Amino acid sequence: MEKFIVEQSPPLKGRVKIGGSKNAVLPIMAASLLTEGGCTIKDVPPLKDVYTMKDILTDLGAVVIWNEKEGSVHIQAQSIAKKEASYELVSKIRASFLIMGPMLARWGEAKVPLPGGCLIGARPVDLHLKGFSALGAEIEIAHGMVTAKSKGLKGNKIYLDFPSVGATENIMMAAVLAEGQTVIENAATEPEIVDLSNFLNNLGAQIRGAGTDTVKITGVDKLKSTEYTVIPDRIEAGTFMTCVAACGGDIELENILAEHLKPMIAKLKEAAIEITEMQNGIRIIADPTRPIKGIDIKTMPYPGFPTDMQAQFMAMLTGCQGSAVITETVFENRFMHVPELLRMGADIKIESRTAFVEGVKNLTGANVKATDLRAGAALVTAALKAQGVTEISNIYHIDRGYCGFDEKLRSLGAKITRLVMEDIKEEQNE
Ligand code: UD1
Repeated sequence: MEKFIVEQSPPLKGRVKIGGSKNAVLPIMAASLLTEGGCTIKDVPPLKDVYTMKDILTDLGAVVIWNEKEGSVHIQAQSIAKKEASYELVSKIRASFLIMGPMLARWGEAKVPLPGGCLIGARPVDLHLKGFSALGAEIEIAHGMVTAKSKGLKGNKIYLDFPSVGATENIMMAAVLAEGQTVIENAATEPEIVDLSNFLNNLGAQIRGAGTDTVKITGVDKLKSTEYTVIPDRIEAGTFMTCVAACGGDIELENILAEHLKPMIAKLKEAAIEITEMQNGIRIIADPTRPIKGIDIKTMPYPGFPTDMQAQFMAMLTGCQGSAVITETVFENRFMHVPELLRMGADIKIESRTAFVEGVKNLTGANVKATDLRAGAALVTAALKAQGVTEISNIYHIDRGYCGFDEKLRSLGAKITRLVMEDIKEEQNE
């Protein structure tokens, strides 16, 4: 087991390079199954979830070569060794369900374990399956496995009841080799969807409208090969922004796309944080002697405020002037960081899906537990400004989504160290 020991830190100063997006690279790796041509993906972050996706693809029979020094992954899916994914591997990450669309499209059959719920919510896959059925696949669920079969998918019109990121991606991938046109209505518009669409179009797919709520896919017979660089991780960037806003300082983030950070930038500016956009970068300045302003936040599908930033913003707002109201509309149980923040002296009350935060003058260090990836990042954000020492356990959750989080923070002057202890079992999230 590893722990973070965080001491109250001075204002953060310096530059940080943001890595490639975890949530973009996972679907893109799955999509590499759609072609025998071979794909090289660049700026791949060396994260645990990405290694798990590599293992899943390898287990299916793809050849995956990861050049860690260059940060590139080459995937060659000439043929497939089996049409059933391993429960042991798939149960490690929810995003593994994204192999279903490509397998169904390419080999006409896929058997993938149901991903199951996780701490932040039940997270069903009904919308993914509704899409596959509309394309003509036969779906069977038995013994915790989903089997999808088709003798040839056919394009159709699919309306999503909710703009699910995963369902939009999975249906898009299934439809690229289908006969005729598929239209996904009420599609998710997240930047990671656009990245997947760009990757697939580079391979020869015909997708139009990704990034809007109507995505049109005209099926093609075959895809080619490509080399593709994934977008920077907007959630990693947002997390560093909240760390500075909470603790004070003056930092620059490199390798970002400011367009993707719009909702976070707007809210930070509303909280009186100074933000300047530069070429391929952004500067964030926060006065450590002045508490940030209380602001209200409601999580929404993109371009609304991202649910993956809700916990970090809440941690930042525990020290606000006045109060803040935070409403979570995307997941039904994403306030697990609240009891931990309360242990550090925060004043937060929850009513249903809304958290009412009253700003306090000081947080105090305590022993706390990361319950999921972003909740863990929120605890680090809070710990940087808390008086005394905070010990954060279960940090394997944090390592799933942030590469060298502690190293990058140390380079900015934060007082954070990693304690290595014995091994423990890991749970899934995101
Ligand atoms: C992705 C992101 C995750 C982010 C989330 C929302 C990845 C790997 N993960 O997760 O970090 O928090 O988007 O921005 O990209 N739902 C259904 N039925 C379905 C599918 C989803 O009811 O078939 C519900 C979910 O339970 C949830 C909501 O829709 O309440 C949003 O889920 P979705 O957008 O699908 O998130 P993921 O793709 O799982």
